[in-house]
Amino acid sequence: MIYPLPAVMVSCGANEAEYNIITIAWTGTLCTNPPMCYISVRPGRHSYNIIKKNREFVINLTTKELAKATDWCGVKSGKNVDKFKAMHLTPGKAQVVNAPTIEEAPVNIECKVTEIIPLGSHDMFMAEVVHVQADERYLNSQTNAFLLGDAGLVNYAHGNYYEQGKHIGRFGYSVQKKKKGAKGKRQTK
Ligand SMILES: Cc1cc2nc3c(=O)[nH]c(=O)nc-3n(C[C@H](O)[C@H](O)[C@H](O)COP(=O)(O)O)c2cc1C
Repeated sequence: MIYPLPAVMVSCGANEAEYNIITIAWTGTLCTNPPMCYISVRPGRHSYNIIKKNREFVINLTTKELAKATDWCGVKSGKNVDKFKAMHLTPGKAQVVNAPTIEEAPVNIECKVTEIIPLGSHDMFMAEVVHVQADERYLNSQTNAFLLGDAGLVNYAHGNYYEQGKHIGRFGYSVQKKKKGAKGKRQTK
C-alpha cells in the first residue's frame, strides 16, 4: 500500500537469445554512496533465473509513451515471446553490464547484484548501480543535473498507471525564506 511507485521495465540477459524485459513495481533506492537499489522478483518469473544466473540487470524508467509496452511486458512472459520485438523496443549496448538497455527509455540504470534475499513471495535482488545513461534532453547542459520533471515519467498506484502530475514545490521549499520584498499574500479581485 506504499504508493505511488514507479513501474519500470527491467531488461536482462547476457546475449540476444536470452534478452528479456520484466515490468517491476517493487523497486527503489537503497543507498546513495555506494549507489544501491533493489528489485523484488517472484521466483516463477522467466526473468528470475536469467537475473539470478547473470547477476546483473538494467532498470529502464518509463514514460507515457512507454506505458503500453510497460503494461504488456508485465502480463506476458518472455518464455514464449521476444518482448523487444513484439513491443518494437530497441536493445541498446550498456556501458558496464552485458544486459541490454532499452533505448527508448529516458534513463537506463545498470545494476550488478550484490545479494539475493529470499523474503517469501518475492526474492529481493540488492544491487549496486554501476552506470547510468540518461537521454541528453533531460540533462542540464551546464550542471549535468537530471531534469526528470520534463520526462513525463509514469507513476503506478494500486493497479493503475498515471502520468506525472502537477508540480508542488522543490526540495526544501517548506523551509525556504521568502525573497526580500515579496509580500505575504497576493490580493486578487
Ligand atoms: C505494473 C506491474 C508491476 C509489476 N511488478 C512486479 C514486481 O515488482 N515483481 C514481480 O516479480 N513481478 C511484477 N510484475 C509481474 C511481471 O512483470 C509479469 O509476471 C511478467 O509477465 C513476467 O515476465 P517474465 O516471465 O518474462 O519474466 C508486475 C507487473 C505489472 C504489470
